[in-house]
Parts: sequence; C-alpha cells; structure tokens
Amino acid sequence: MKILEVDGNYPLTGTVRIGGAKNSAVALIPACILSDNKTTLTNVPDITDIYVLKDILEYLDVKVSEASGSLVIDPALMINKEIPDDLSNRLRASYYFMASLLAKYKHVRMHFPGGCQIGSRPIDQTLKVFEKLGATIEEKDCVFDIQAKELIGNEITLDMPSVGATVNGIIVATLAKGDTIIHNAAREPEIVDLAEMLNKMGAKITGAGNSTVKITGVEKLDGCFHNVIPDRIEAGTYIILGALMGNYLCVENIITEHLKSLLDKMVDMGCDLEINADSVIVNANDNIVATDVKTAGYPGFPTDLQQPFVTLLIGAKGKSTVTENIYENRFMNIPYLNKMGANISIKERTLSILGGNVLHGEEVEATDLRAGASLLLAALKAKGHTTIKNVDYILRGYEDLIEKLTSIGAKIELKEI
Ligand code: EPU
Repeated sequence: MKILEVDGNYPLTGTVRIGGAKNSAVALIPACILSDNKTTLTNVPDITDIYVLKDILEYLDVKVSEASGSLVIDPALMINKEIPDDLSNRLRASYYFMASLLAKYKHVRMHFPGGCQIGSRPIDQTLKVFEKLGATIEEKDCVFDIQAKELIGNEITLDMPSVGATVNGIIVATLAKGDTIIHNAAREPEIVDLAEMLNKMGAKITGAGNSTVKITGVEKLDGCFHNVIPDRIEAGTYIILGALMGNYLCVENIITEHLKSLLDKMVDMGCDLEINADSVIVNANDNIVATDVKTAGYPGFPTDLQQPFVTLLIGAKGKSTVTENIYENRFMNIPYLNKMGANISIKERTLSILGGNVLHGEEVEATDLRAGASLLLAALKAKGHTTIKNVDYILRGYEDLIEKLTSIGAKIELKEI
C-alpha cells in the first residue's frame, strides 16, 4: 500500500502547471479506435487511469507509443476480443470501449466497468442508447454481450444528463446510419473535447456542450492530432489549496471559464483571487466566510470538487451547507476530517459545516479519489503530521502529485509499506 506522510501548515508559493483532463483523455483514448489510422493525443495526463487504458489498448492489439505527454494510438492491427474483468473493473471509463467496439465491429463483450465506490453508478442509460440504435443486449453474471446487425440513428432522451451515457452515445452514433439526436445530454467541457476530436477525425457532431447533441453517422473515420483540454478538477483542487495555504500561488495552463462555478463561490466567500483567462493567482486569507453549495452537472458546481471544497469550508466563518446531488456516497472523507478537528454533520445528502475550526494532523485513509484529495488538502493545512493511507486512489487522478506539491514548498513524502 502507498501512503503519504505530510507535515502541514507550510505556506505554498510558486507555480503549478495543470495537466490534461483525466475525464477527457479517458473518453478520447477509447474513441481513437473507431478509426483504422493513427491518432496522436498530446497533453495526456500521466496518471494510473491512463496506464489501465493503455493496457486495454495493448490487450486489443492496438499499438501504443508514447513520448513526454503524447500518445500515438495505432489501431491498424486491432482485434475485437472480450475485455476481461481484471481490466474493465479497474476504472469506470473502460465502458467507453463498449461504445467504440460496438460501433466498429457491431459486437462487444465486456464485464461491468469499475470506478470509485461513490454511489450505485448504474449503466442503464448507456444500454438504453445502444438499444435505441438497434443493439441487443444479453447480460449474464455481469458480462455484457452486445450486438447489432446494423446501428441506425435514433432520437433519445436521457433520464438524467449522464456524462458516461452522453460519451457512449456520441461514440456509438458516430458510425451509425443516419441521424442520432441525444436530448438531456451532459454539457461538460470533456464532452465538447470529445466531439471536437471526433469531428477532426471526420465525424459530424453538432451541439456538444448544449443539452441537445446531433450526430450524423459517417462510414469511416480517419486519424488526427488532438491536444487534451486542461483538467478543471486538478486545477480547482490546487486553487482551493491556494486559498488554504497559498502565498502568491499561481495555477496555470487552465481554462478559467471551465471553473466559473467554483471561482464565483470563492469570490463570494472573500477568497483572494486574481483570475486571468488561463491562470489564477491565489493567496490564503483568514477572513473567508461560510457559503452554501449544491452540486450539479456542468455548468453547475462539480461533484468532483465537492469534497476538496469542504476542506476549505472548515476554516470559513459561520455555518456552511453542502448538498451532494449527483452521488449518494461522496461523504466518506467526513469522519476523517472530523478526526482532524472539523465540525461537520451529515443529514441525508447534506452536510452542515460549523466553520472556524483549526485542523491537526492524524492518521487518515483515502476511500476514493476526491475524498483523498480532500484529506490531502486538510493535511497540508493542518498543524502537525498526517499519514494518509490508500494513496493509490489519489494517484488515479493527479499527475506528478508529489513533484508539483514539493515544488511549491509542501513537505510531503510518498512511501510504500
Ligand atoms: N446514472 C444513472 N444511470 C446511468 C448513468 C448515470 O443512474 O446510466 C447516474 C449516476 O448513478 C450518477 C449520475 O447519474 O448518480 C451521474 O453519473 P454520470 O454518468 O454523469 O457519471 P460518470 O460518467 O459515471 C463522470 C466522471 C466522474 C464525475 C461524473 C459527474 C469519468 C470517467 N467520470 O462519471 O468523475 O464525477 O461524470 O461529473 O468521466 C472523478 O473524476 O472523480 C469522477 C468520479
């Protein structure tokens, strides 16, 4: 098991450069195999979720070569095989291969996808899209066998704006016959990034980033060059860290428009921010005030920043509330934050945070990626020493974590025990 040893309460100064977006790259990589030609992705984050996707590509006989942040994916010799459980259960995004293999071969067999245990995370909306386009689905012991004589475009209304179902819907419809219209689609910037890459490959997708996306199927796609957008969740995490401990901390290589819901809240709270188009400079400020947050799909407040944001609210004057509307199990960081000195109570999907408390070091455990990020921020703020167990969760989503934190003055060490 990997653990982090953190000595807290040191001011953080300098510049953090944000990497490519995890949730974009994990959709772009499976989409690349729709073509028989090479695609080059640049600004690919160096995180463990990407290593798993590379393993899946190699298992499918797709040639993958890499050089400092870029990935060349060559599916010329690819073979359609059942993706086994020990690959699919390592991350949620493995199920984007369901869509790309179904689109390309009209047949896919794979196990239920993995991902952090932050809620029930069903895949019914993706399966509904596949069926609407003409696929038949058989499921036995969590193995899905999905096939179609041909895929024909259709009009679909998602029950909720699911990111995964929107990604899968766009991927599968790209090679279907005729028009597909997805209503109530997710609007996240990562969906726009996917549509932009697919359009460069020859797809015909309009409306990505809006609630209605139209895909006109094409016969074939080509390869392309594509630069992954910056990771707004990594960026948001470091901006929150700057509000906790920053002394002129600059978070750069970001698209601040993608972070508007977070930055607006932080401005309302009295955080000391200088917001530019592609960077934010942030200073810690002891006079921030409580606020109320409700998570929602983009452009609302992102569920992926809810847990890191709670750590900021611990020091805010007054009582804050946080309502988690996307996942039912995203409060697993709370008992550990309370152990470190916070005063947070949970009622159903809402937290009440009595602010103004001082955190102290403790032994805590990351239970999922963003819960781990929340505890890491708390450890960097706390007085004294914190040990964080199960750090593998955090490394799924934050590239060069130790290097980036050390470079701005954090006292942090990664150990294997
Ligand atoms: N949902 C269903 N049925 C479905 C799909 C979703 O009921 O078929 C429900 C889910 O249970 C959840 C809600 O709809 O309550 C939203 O799920 P969504 O499909 O939007 O999420 P996802 O595609 O599984 C992606 C990100 C998550 C991020 C969410 C929301 C990837 C690989 N994952 O998950 O990222 O929290 O969108 O923005 O893109 C993370 O990075 O830490 C992370 C968990």
